[in-house]
Amino acid sequence: MCGIVAYIGEQEAFPIVLKGLKRLEYRGYDSSGIAVNNNLNLNLLKKQGKVAELEKYAEEFDTSGTVGIGHTRWATHGAPNDVNAHPHLSGNGKFALVHNGIIENYAILKKELISRGHEFKSETDTEVLMHLIEEIIEKQNVSLLEGVRQALNEVHGAYAIVIISKENNQELIAARKSSPLVVGIGKDEFFVASDATPIVEYTKNVVYLEDGEIACISLDSGLKIKTISNVEKTPYIQELELQLEALEKGGYEHFMLKEIFEQPRSIMDCMRGRLNLKNSSVALGGIKDYEEKIVNAKRLIIVACGTSWHAGIVGEYLLEELARIPVEVEYASEFRYRNPIINEGDVVICISQSGETADTLAAISLAKERGATILGICNVVGSSISRLTDCGSYTHAGPEIGVASTKAFTAQVTVLTLLALMIGKKKGTIPSNRFNRILFELNSIPEKVEEVLKSDKQINFISDIYKDASNALYLGRGINFPVALEGALKLKEISYIHAEGYPAAEMKHGPIALIDEEMPIFVIATKDASYEKVVSNIQEVKARKGKVIAIVTKGDTEVKAIADHVIEIPHTDDVLVPLIATIPMQLLSYHIAVMRGCNVDQPRNLAKSVTVE
Ligand code: F6R
Repeated sequence: MCGIVAYIGEQEAFPIVLKGLKRLEYRGYDSSGIAVNNNLNLNLLKKQGKVAELEKYAEEFDTSGTVGIGHTRWATHGAPNDVNAHPHLSGNGKFALVHNGIIENYAILKKELISRGHEFKSETDTEVLMHLIEEIIEKQNVSLLEGVRQALNEVHGAYAIVIISKENNQELIAARKSSPLVVGIGKDEFFVASDATPIVEYTKNVVYLEDGEIACISLDSGLKIKTISNVEKTPYIQELELQLEALEKGGYEHFMLKEIFEQPRSIMDCMRGRLNLKNSSVALGGIKDYEEKIVNAKRLIIVACGTSWHAGIVGEYLLEELARIPVEVEYASEFRYRNPIINEGDVVICISQSGETADTLAAISLAKERGATILGICNVVGSSISRLTDCGSYTHAGPEIGVASTKAFTAQVTVLTLLALMIGKKKGTIPSNRFNRILFELNSIPEKVEEVLKSDKQINFISDIYKDASNALYLGRGINFPVALEGALKLKEISYIHAEGYPAAEMKHGPIALIDEEMPIFVIATKDASYEKVVSNIQEVKARKGKVIAIVTKGDTEVKAIADHVIEIPHTDDVLVPLIATIPMQLLSYHIAVMRGCNVDQPRNLAKSVTVE
């Protein structure tokens, strides 16, 4: 949600910042801007629309300078236009600021600043922060660092900021609270960004700023960190594992398609070193120290948002079935504003691809305050959530750039499966022959996903038939109900077709009223415990002339005889079906969205990493 990039060193800053913004564009893409200090002035370029618009616009201007900041925006305060785009200048034009997050008390601060003569150009909270910093510096004659520090003590809310000064092209200041910021350390140069993706091609050495920290980056004295309460900190330099190729499209038309096709590998990477067929065991290194607590948990509470929440519901079925522990799955945004009851012996599992989702972070803080043990399932190594949890497992899916989550979902479900198996084995709640069977099947999932991906042409053909639908229904039962929810979310977020996911049997309690001959109904009808029931649900749809597209187990004849289209997937254990049934859903959404001319990697109004409430 908003991407920040900054550079200071000996190279030209503009091209580095621009390229960085393109890498971060998945975080927000309604407007962008760059400010560069050219030794005389702060040259400011801002443009509504994608970063490419800014690039075109910048061709006519002087962009020289060796220190610069850039921002790609996902609007919160004020419409997405040139004026509200960041960076924002101070009233005296001496400073420029980029900001990700929300200054919650900006309205009061703005009123006070206006009463003292400040004039504002934009509707943003960011410009208010910029003026506040300027006022402190001017009134108290303090350094930029001190001005920033004092101002941050007056604001409430979330921020990641970077600020540069017209009068000093040897320094930039960055700070964070509840919004991520990474500093890259090169040779005589530094980079700052919302995540490591714009940095990795220049350096592998990074420092993740902690909440309440301010970095003073100077070409003379290097990187210094202090807290907003003025305590010096020693920077902790880490080495990035991220590979540059993982950030490129690799020949695919879209990141989303590439990421869908990466799933055989990403699921395999997620299991690597954890699933051991030879000695019939599962090991999750990141939770080892808390294993006993988790195995003996009285209750598991899963908190997450969006697609990660859907993975959580799959997890509920897995953990209750295999580990026999009661599970509750909560939207993180609701959990934090209830007064949740957390008892001794409860373990909170938080799931997040980005590891930066504000609602999930807040839910973790609340659960921690109440004494819960927190287990994290995250994709982004070093992310805020992964650092806040007591223990956890990375999903190892690799960077997910497409805004619609695909490979992160299947990797989250893979970790949850491994966790359920690990607990179940320790607790003795899975008979050993079933444990071995599931383990064996899980190991073959990457191959089975590969097989499903071969149906891409057929799925493309079906997509063409339903691309003009205005509504769609997704149905599944048991562990495949969350797959229906996820299918519906994928379709609506990238194709803008209204879609709902339901437990198949719930259809008759309301949504059945929507069905007519125009309505596609996607049903997961694989051969499992609820197969016969689902077949009856399909009959109910057909009786009302709905169009049924069913995902069936290879060789199925019963559903084939009544459905309009079937997409076959290989047979697997009931608890593993979500890992493969999800794939055709992803491909259907992708193709329909492309056929409707939608921007699948950057759908309207969305952003990859939701760092605001
Ligand atoms: C949907 C999607 C979102 C995210 C949600 C949580 O495709 O990507 O619904 O799943 O915003 O994000 P993370 O998992 O990063 O916490």
